[in-house]
Amino acid sequence: MNESLSLPSPAPAIRPYGLALSHQARAMIKGQRPRCLWLTGFSGAGKSTLANALELYLHQYGLHTFLLDGDNVRSGLCRDLGMGDSCRRENIRRMAEVARLMVDAGLIVIVAAISPFRAERDAARRLFAPEDFIEVHVSTSLQVCARRDPKGLYQAVREGRINNFTGVDSPYEAPLSAECRIDTEALELPEACQQLAALLLKK
Ligand code: ADX
Repeated sequence: MNESLSLPSPAPAIRPYGLALSHQARAMIKGQRPRCLWLTGFSGAGKSTLANALELYLHQYGLHTFLLDGDNVRSGLCRDLGMGDSCRRENIRRMAEVARLMVDAGLIVIVAAISPFRAERDAARRLFAPEDFIEVHVSTSLQVCARRDPKGLYQAVREGRINNFTGVDSPYEAPLSAECRIDTEALELPEACQQLAALLLKK
């Protein structure tokens, strides 16, 4: 999709239908509080590793979860989107809307996406009840991410094979008031999972 992406408004004749079954009722039979935990940070920061470990951890306790990972969603629903600013904004908007539907369905949703723009993350937050959106800044430094380079993308950037790369020639706006900050260089994975699980399970 090109970069002059502009979203149409819903047609005036569209009126959301009030569903007969409430989201509270769906949550109740799952015996859990559905929430969205949103991981943001540079490529290579450890978002996907953390999200996968957290999902396995929650599963052990019988919690019903789903993980929306940027690369996975970009392989299907968002395969038409590139890496320019407006496509990233649209990518975040779609992930947020899907997360909201899944939370309405009763799931605990983990989103792992660079999601570099504050305005779109804040818009995502507004889709949820105040305590049901938990923003986590996976704050691993760009230097560490580039050194890890798990997918060889930083090397590709250095060789000029990729552009619009977050932190290099594409912006990253760090959260100003995330509920939690995790530097995967400083914190072991099991401790990080426990911290995030505690946030998700808070009353
Ligand atoms: S976002 O910015 O729109 O939130 P998202 O997390 O969905 O990004 O996708 C980023 C993934 O695409 C990274 O994990 C990385 O593997 C890959 N990628 C490919 N090109 C780029 C790029 N130019 N900048 C950042 N990530 C890229």
